[in-house]
Amino acid sequence: MINYSGTVKIDTERLVLRQFTIEDVESAYKHWLSDERVSDNRVSPAHIRLAETSKRISEIINQYTSPEYCWWALELKEDGNLIGEIYLYEFEAQTSNCEVGYSLGYEWWNKGYGTEALKAVIGFAFRHMRVHKISAAHNTDNPASGRVMMKAGMKQEGVIRHMIRNSKNQYKDCAVYGILDEDFYE
Ligand SMILES: CC(C)(COP(=O)(O)OP(=O)(O)OC[C@H]1O[C@@H](n2cnc3c(N)ncnc32)[C@H](O)[C@@H]1OP(=O)(O)O)[C@@H](O)C(=O)NCCC(=O)NCCS
Repeated sequence: MINYSGTVKIDTERLVLRQFTIEDVESAYKHWLSDERVSDNRVSPAHIRLAETSKRISEIINQYTSPEYCWWALELKEDGNLIGEIYLYEFEAQTSNCEVGYSLGYEWWNKGYGTEALKAVIGFAFRHMRVHKISAAHNTDNPASGRVMMKAGMKQEGVIRHMIRNSKNQYKDCAVYGILDEDFYE
């Protein structure tokens, strides 16, 4: 059984993983949610108005009352900048399995932050929440995300053709990755 405790604060070497607040709206919009370089690798389109981000962040904040809700803002310790998000979702009671997703602002790509955040959330999910398996998928034309999954200990399990259709109506093949609790504790 999964041990839910909501979106609790997690500290890593360079990041604080914390709950979003309404003060984060402008940074989230500016740093990644309005940026097509980020949204092109996701299913949801880039925001074109700050109001969309405001609505999205409010939706996230409203769900923090649920212990099953795990959606972290990524804050850089160095300067307090909000640089991205990471979340666990699709918890399944029957298997104790779940999925993970993440995005970072373009300015902070390729500095190891994605891997640092994913490792922290994977550790939290196995050690504290006692999940059985964490899965993720990335578009095959977004190899950086696969690299992050690999560096965090996930294994590629296959490629699913046309697994998603993005906001530009393009079908994308996706590489599916997973990590089991036994892989984590090995
Ligand atoms: C995917 C994402 C989170 C990666 O975060 P990040 O902080 O840049 O990741 P890291 O710096 O920890 O690692 C990136 C790795 O990808 C590698 N990489 C970058 N571009 C690459 C490319 N075009 N091909 C192959 N590898 C690439 C980097 O070299 C690095 O690997 P290394 O440490 O072995 O050199 C970030 O690029 C992002 O937010 N992208 C847009 C949204 C997205 O893709 N979300 C995930 C959807 S599944």
